[in-house]
Amino acid sequence: MTQIKNIMVTGGAGYIGSHIVQFLCDKGYSVIILDNFSLGLHENVDPRVKEVIEGDILTEQDINKAFSHDIDVVFHFAAWKAAGESMVDPAKYARNNIGGTISLLNGMLHHNVKYFVFSSSAAVYGNPAYLPIDENHPLRPTNYYGYTKLIMEQNLDWYSRLKGIKYGSLRYFNATGYDINGKIRGKEKNPANLSPVVMEVAAGIRAKLQVFGDDYNTRDGTGIRDYIHVTDLADAHLLAMDYILEKNENLVVNLGTGSGHSVMEVINIAKSVIGKDIPYEIVGRRAGDPAKLIASSELAHKLLGWQAQYSDLTTIFKTMCSVYF
Ligand code: WQD
Repeated sequence: MTQIKNIMVTGGAGYIGSHIVQFLCDKGYSVIILDNFSLGLHENVDPRVKEVIEGDILTEQDINKAFSHDIDVVFHFAAWKAAGESMVDPAKYARNNIGGTISLLNGMLHHNVKYFVFSSSAAVYGNPAYLPIDENHPLRPTNYYGYTKLIMEQNLDWYSRLKGIKYGSLRYFNATGYDINGKIRGKEKNPANLSPVVMEVAAGIRAKLQVFGDDYNTRDGTGIRDYIHVTDLADAHLLAMDYILEKNENLVVNLGTGSGHSVMEVINIAKSVIGKDIPYEIVGRRAGDPAKLIASSELAHKLLGWQAQYSDLTTIFKTMCSVYF
């Protein structure tokens, strides 16, 4: 196995990136963060990180500065992730999620860096043709965010075939929760995802939650998702890195639990864990939202030996309470 000198984490001060950085530091790796701090938080940066570069993946100089560290592996989290927003401002998503990732890959080629772990998404699948969704499911994103992830997966495949990059693409279902060890405590800025919005309502930061549609073909009419704890995701990232380095093969896997919860179920569990009311109103559907997304993670289990441990909604909201209250 390649001896790893340095690991670059783009978006390493962000919500998911900061959790992966903590795990990498726990294992003794030398980590370089490249983050523009548009959403990242200084307080979430692990103090053991070798260097934090306040820079942008769209700026060649910043990318070169990060690669000057003799990097062996890149973890890429510097992307926009609000599916709803991507439908009204696709240019923002094109620029960063596509353009920025291409710049980063070109930087890897330039600096002879071979290994890449990519933060992909269940949004690459779109409306399910069957459930649970496995990795062979057709790729037909219904929102622009999902399209940006899909097109980058396709580019990774080309860069791998043409230039020998080896990549792991991890298709997260609904990432949620906070650090199980309680060390990462900075809240996400302007969240749009369901569980942080629920927490903001419970904490009085927002007046009420808008439930986007109760007329879906689901058990209570609200959207069903497969919620996966960020600590479980962090675990999978390290296993994915070991896999691509050891096997020298690409990896594309789903990360989810195999069971889904509706928006109303999430509200009710949150209410009982937090012990506070969550006022809500039913509004129209959000553009681009599929009714139901549930993962099959059998492949991740088979190839990586990975399984979610902390992804029940009670644990998820307990870990969020420790940050919001
Ligand atoms: C969940 C459910 C909403 C907010 C996207 C990406 C996915 C992942 C997470 C990376 C849906 C409903 C939400 C609100 C609501 N990406 N909802 N009121 O869109 O399923 O997934 O983010 O981390 O790849 O596609 O997540 O949390 O926005 O929505 O009713 O204020 O909650 O309609 O049914 P989504 P979400």
